[in-house]
Amino acid sequence: MTQTHFGYQTVDESDKARRVRGVFDSVAKKYDIMNDLMSGGLHRAWKAYTVAVANLREGDRALDIAGGTGDLARAFAKRVGATGVVVHTDINESMLRVGRDRLLDEGMVLPTTICDAEKLPFDTGSFDLVSVAFGLRNMTHKEVALAEMNRVLRPGGRLLVLEFSKIAAPLRKAYDWYSFNVLPRVGQFVAGDAESYRYLAESIRMHPDQETLRQMMKAAGFGHVDVHNLTGGVVALHVGIKC
Ligand SMILES: C[S@@+](CC[C@H](N)C(=O)[O-])C[C@H]1O[C@@H](n2cnc3c(N)ncnc32)[C@H](O)[C@@H]1O
Repeated sequence: MTQTHFGYQTVDESDKARRVRGVFDSVAKKYDIMNDLMSGGLHRAWKAYTVAVANLREGDRALDIAGGTGDLARAFAKRVGATGVVVHTDINESMLRVGRDRLLDEGMVLPTTICDAEKLPFDTGSFDLVSVAFGLRNMTHKEVALAEMNRVLRPGGRLLVLEFSKIAAPLRKAYDWYSFNVLPRVGQFVAGDAESYRYLAESIRMHPDQETLRQMMKAAGFGHVDVHNLTGGVVALHVGIKC
């Protein structure tokens, strides 16, 4: 049996998706408030930057993968207007339900689909833009997911990967202290779940750094990949162009 990592634990590949599902089933209802608390609201700025870089136009077709509670899908839908399409997807039904309810509360009805990024149920070349925010880290076969994202883009289309990345060295000590001491406690207090937030901190450390992810995207078929470091590398936005 092939093994992979789930945070700092080594697990069977076949078991990782189940464990990830457990994390997001557990946190779905408190996900948005926890995002604001953990990042001091910074996740809104990172997503706003991503939306600006996406630069979607009226009539564009966008796919948001691992879309969860719908922050990017909502912002994209406002840009593409009535003639465009934004498909909001996630592998996890609990997260997608929270997202769909939020969108409905704001009067938005988007196509919403449960799907695994590693097996996308869309035709080749069907989107102008694909996004994945804070989702790639959780995927078992990242190279398979990136190849699928490349496949569903039209030539010239762009993939935006917003993800935690490798922080600049001078900030590392404070960031580690915060991640392993504060995060799980806040998770326990607000969401009644310290373990899922310990997984978050560990999974960030196990995720490929900026350059490694850039190379993975090139290997998946993106001819050109730009990296935008945000907040000293806490997060990076990788922009890949399907050439
Ligand atoms: C941290 S949340 C991010 C949600 C949202 N994109 C955001 O930025 O707030 C990560 C999401 O990745 C989803 N996910 C994990 N593995 C996935 C996969 N193989 N395919 C699609 N989504 C996946 C989880 O279900 C979860 O909703």
